[in-house]
Amino acid sequence: MDRFVIEGGRRLSGTVDVRGSKNAVLPIMAAALLTREPLVIEGVPDLRDVRFYAKLLQVLGCEVSSEGSTMRFQTCNEEEHTAPYDLVSKMRGTVTTLGPLLARRGRARVSLPGGCVLGVRPIDLHLKGLRALGAKIKVEHGYIDAVAPPGGLVGAEIFLGSSFGPTVLGTANVLMAAVLARGKTVIECAACEPEVVDLARCLVEMGAQIEGIGSHRLVIHGVPELTGAHHRVIPDRIEAATFIVAGLMTRSEITVRNMRSDHLTAFFDKLLEAGAEMDIAPTRVITKPTERLNSVEFTTLAYPGFPTDLQAQMMALLTLSKGVSVITERIFPDRFMHASELMRLGANIRREGPMAIVEGSERLSGAPVMASDLRASAALVLAGMVAEGETEVQRVYHIDRGYERIEERLNALGASIRRVNPGPHE
Ligand code: EPZ
Repeated sequence: MDRFVIEGGRRLSGTVDVRGSKNAVLPIMAAALLTREPLVIEGVPDLRDVRFYAKLLQVLGCEVSSEGSTMRFQTCNEEEHTAPYDLVSKMRGTVTTLGPLLARRGRARVSLPGGCVLGVRPIDLHLKGLRALGAKIKVEHGYIDAVAPPGGLVGAEIFLGSSFGPTVLGTANVLMAAVLARGKTVIECAACEPEVVDLARCLVEMGAQIEGIGSHRLVIHGVPELTGAHHRVIPDRIEAATFIVAGLMTRSEITVRNMRSDHLTAFFDKLLEAGAEMDIAPTRVITKPTERLNSVEFTTLAYPGFPTDLQAQMMALLTLSKGVSVITERIFPDRFMHASELMRLGANIRREGPMAIVEGSERLSGAPVMASDLRASAALVLAGMVAEGETEVQRVYHIDRGYERIEERLNALGASIRRVNPGPHE
């Protein structure tokens, strides 16, 4: 397994362009199953997860071609309705094939996605929503087996919230089923993350009738058929924020371009409270060399609250702040695998249930650390870039899932990150 060897203490400079959003493009790719016409998506990031999902769609009868960052999907064969375990188990986002297959083919057999380091990752709300639309669903032998009524799915009023708030992929799944259901569907407590908005906008470009896009209440009037579309994916707000944290942690002036600042309001609010100096424009941010930041308290919440996908990166930043910060994780209460690894770099962090108490220190010191999930890996790379001496981040395949050539792009800004392939004995 590849690992990164990082030389800490280097200043950054220059400009980095943000790629298309991983979490927007994955459900949008699944929308190709809703029509036999071509769906062309521009601005697709070159990520393992994208390549992987494209492979699954091919298994499900979709022809896939790509030219640069433009990918073309066209469903030509609708016989298959099973998303196999060996593909789904490696990437939870593939669960969003469930809704489209059910809506278009009347049948879907998708492996249960399984858990991950963030916790159990249930899909009860996905199934609740699809059952409300008339699907008969059995869960056995590790598979979700769903069958639509003989006349097809029927619109319904659905509350799709849990004690953790809305569900992003659950909303995507039910939305993609409802657009072809007969009659009107109302999804209350729908997720309104920019990635869900982007999917909804793409579905409207395909002929779907959706009201309330961007709100927690979506009203969908089903249509018999959808057409193809040509859609450009939104920039990845989590990647943009990760680069901004890199600039602030290394006390550098860098420009992060091709982003949407309006997708990161809660994140900027906390950074400004901590004393970060940035020149924020609608599609680019310039970080300014800032002295030690102040500590802050923040809680991760559904959009527009502070994103859980930025919690690890913000923790890395706060390990060097003045005073004591308190981080409360309300979306995935166990999402603190990165804390123990940051402590190996000298960070001072204490867990208290869904909270992490971070006492800022003057410096971090390099050490070997282990990546555990996509965003934790990013946090460890950021910390390694400022820790004194050398940091080795193992299992960087996690980071390759969500960040395109991250070490090349950070090195182009002045970082020193070497990707080391495993030796014969590893
Ligand atoms: C999406 O996951 C993202 N993944 C996650 O990003 C992100 O952290 C998460 O949304 C929250 O924003 C993709 O888009 C591929 P949820 P998702 O359903 O949809 C509970 C990354 O790093 N829940 O919104 O699976 C759940 O346990 C990844 O890019 C239920 O209880 O997350 C959690 O506590 C990590 N029942 C909360 O809801 C359900 O049926 C929010 O989860 C579904 C979810």
